[in-house]
Amino acid sequence: MVDTSDEWIVSRTGIKERRVCENGMVGSDMAVIACQKALDNAGVSVDDVDILITATVTPDYRLPSQACIVQNKLGANNAAALDVVAACAGYINGLSIARSFIESGMYKNILVVGVEYLTSITDYTDRGTCILFGDGAGATLITAETDGNGVVSTYLKSDGRLWSWLTVEAGACAKPSEYGVKGDGSDKIYMNGSDIFKVAVREMTKASIKVLEDAGITADDVSLVVPHQANIRIIDAIVKRLKIDKKKVFLNIEKYGNTSAASVPLALDEANHEGLLHKGDYVLMVAFGGGLTTGAALLRW
Ligand code: ACO
Repeated sequence: MVDTSDEWIVSRTGIKERRVCENGMVGSDMAVIACQKALDNAGVSVDDVDILITATVTPDYRLPSQACIVQNKLGANNAAALDVVAACAGYINGLSIARSFIESGMYKNILVVGVEYLTSITDYTDRGTCILFGDGAGATLITAETDGNGVVSTYLKSDGRLWSWLTVEAGACAKPSEYGVKGDGSDKIYMNGSDIFKVAVREMTKASIKVLEDAGITADDVSLVVPHQANIRIIDAIVKRLKIDKKKVFLNIEKYGNTSAASVPLALDEANHEGLLHKGDYVLMVAFGGGLTTGAALLRW
């Protein structure tokens, strides 16, 4: 479709394969599968979910929220439901909100799902972006416990001054959908990738240091890093700056590409199923995306 090569894509991004949402399915369908698996793994009934937080920039509809659509399909009828729109940092923003709800005592069982149907807004004439994005969903159940483990620290930051570096401009109120229909591409993803690359490395490093400092630990104490899977070179640069052993970094970018808000929970789930997480381990998660948004979270597994 575009002038590119497998060699360029793999060497510049680390991406070898991506997943595309099945015909006839939309984001909420992927989210429901992920949420149900998370509930099954936790042994918690859907009736006991207090709130469902959905992180996405690719909702089924503009109104209502994606969370309400997922709630309905999942049958989480006793829950509240809300969306978090923070692009690739969406899941960590959602996790941070969940942490606050738990710590305040307001809720006990919180589903946080990151889901994206990015291929629906990918511009397949733009070689700078169309080689990056994939679809998927990852969900976690956050539960109030008193064993001392859980979300130890979180850090969130945004720089709205740089919002125009990563956008889908058409389809909301400022630029109704006719703009995209006119064929100017404004209903698809635009990204200033090379400038974002530099800010991503700087901000993800800063965010990682902050959550470690807040927890009173050093990078040496971290057992596993689960970073947003946007570009292998971004991940390598952060790990080098943090002086973390590359063997401690979980990677699945080659299978999925960049799945935005789904990226971190997908990676966390795979790390868990591969037996890489042990009770008491410190797990560092960090993400960066459109907004521009940054999020980091330190878990004690
Ligand atoms: N195939 C071949 N050549 C390409 C391709 C391609 N697919 N894409 C770009 N190029 C060319 C460019 O045209 C340019 O050519 P030129 O030098 O002749 O002008 C050259 O390669 C270098 O382009 P750069 O954009 O500087 O390439 P870079 O090494 O920066 O890689 C990439 C591009 C992969 C997009 C990278 O910048 C990146 O990963 N950026 C960060 C993305 C990110 O983290 N986004 C935030 C999260 S996404 C979200 O929130 C939804």
